[in-house]
Amino acid sequence: MKKIVVRLGKKSYSIIIKPGILNNVSEIIDKLHPSVPVAIISDSIVSGLYGKKLKADLQKTRKDVHLLKFPSGESSKNHEQLKLLYTELIKKKMPRNSVIIALGGGVTGDLAGFAAATYLRGINFIQIPTTLLAQVDSSVGGKVGINHELGKNLIGSFYQPKIVIIDPHVLSTLPAREVVTGMGEVVKYGLIADKNLFLLIDKNLDSLLEINNQKLISDIIYRCCRIKAQIVEKDEKENNIRKILNFGHTFGHALEQVTDYKVYTHGEAVIAGMRWAVFYSHEKGLLNSQHYAEIDKVLGRFGIKVGNINTDSILSAMSVDKKISDNQLFLILLKNAGKTLFYKVKDNKELKFVTERWINSAAKKNHINY
Ligand SMILES: NC(=O)c1ccc[n+]([C@@H]2O[C@H](COP(=O)([O-])OP(=O)(O)OC[C@H]3O[C@@H](n4cnc5c(N)ncnc54)[C@H](O)[C@@H]3O)[C@@H](O)[C@H]2O)c1
Repeated sequence: MKKIVVRLGKKSYSIIIKPGILNNVSEIIDKLHPSVPVAIISDSIVSGLYGKKLKADLQKTRKDVHLLKFPSGESSKNHEQLKLLYTELIKKKMPRNSVIIALGGGVTGDLAGFAAATYLRGINFIQIPTTLLAQVDSSVGGKVGINHELGKNLIGSFYQPKIVIIDPHVLSTLPAREVVTGMGEVVKYGLIADKNLFLLIDKNLDSLLEINNQKLISDIIYRCCRIKAQIVEKDEKENNIRKILNFGHTFGHALEQVTDYKVYTHGEAVIAGMRWAVFYSHEKGLLNSQHYAEIDKVLGRFGIKVGNINTDSILSAMSVDKKISDNQLFLILLKNAGKTLFYKVKDNKELKFVTERWINSAAKKNHINY
């Protein structure tokens, strides 16, 4: 078993990583929150795969255990689903000392976490992430929330879990596309903070995408969670250094938005966004040609294709980030794998020029199909 402690004073918590741990979750939760009511929140797919088993396990030692389901997918991360969850929690008379367990991917963690943060002004919250993306990223750090019609993740809060329990065995049922999605976030950690991790991924990408080496995948999850924990400890509310976790997200979020969240998973859009960001870094002379070629080649191995996107729509979608930061757009760019910097975009002309050049050059290189 591997353990990381996220040190945030009174809000500190552990991340536990162990293959097969899902079979013994009741033991852990009994120590933290004995006998209180529990609501497991899970999507329609994960509840069938693991929810019923978890419910039965928890029922061994406590009376009130509820399994609340919502339809799987990003489109459920909204006000309507949140309201339905509140209604269930109220009807089940869940008290202040009760616990919400988010069992699922990033959508479940964000939605259930926001319900936990706001129901009765906040009840206990536990993360049991089941996608690779959620295990290496979204379950750690306390960002919870929902989407708004005008943009992603615009409504939310910082609400830390009491514990994060990670069982890499559950990745065996994850569809291949979701593995790619999560591996994109893993590459992100290598690029922003750990060159050796990036090289390890490059060397083992095929095996990693097959999820056939539990030791390697557990080790990689551990390394990513450790990086995230260190960043969150320094800057819980994302005032400075935590922003580097958004590497690839300016373009990625815009791509998700202009394609109506229907074409790309979040992680796929972030992979495309990282390619755009490394191109930008190279264009601005921050990343040398050799490093650019090496990094772009690895990102290209994920085979994410960007269709006929309209540059103006992408630029306008990126301006949501801009409005939020005093009408200036800051990008997270790279000096090399493991070394980031904050870059202030000169003006819209520059953004448009580089973005159009990327689209054209990527199309020519045939890494991205148009
Ligand atoms: N809070 C944060 O810090 C943070 C960070 C990154 C991303 N996010 C958010 O995370 C979301 C994306 O998360 P995601 O990619 O995990 O998507 P997701 O939660 O929709 O899961 C992807 C799909 O995999 C299925 N699934 C989950 N676990 C499974 C398993 N073990 N076996 C089989 N199927 C399984 C789900 O039912 C779903 O269909 C986005 O909304 C994004 O904004 C949040």
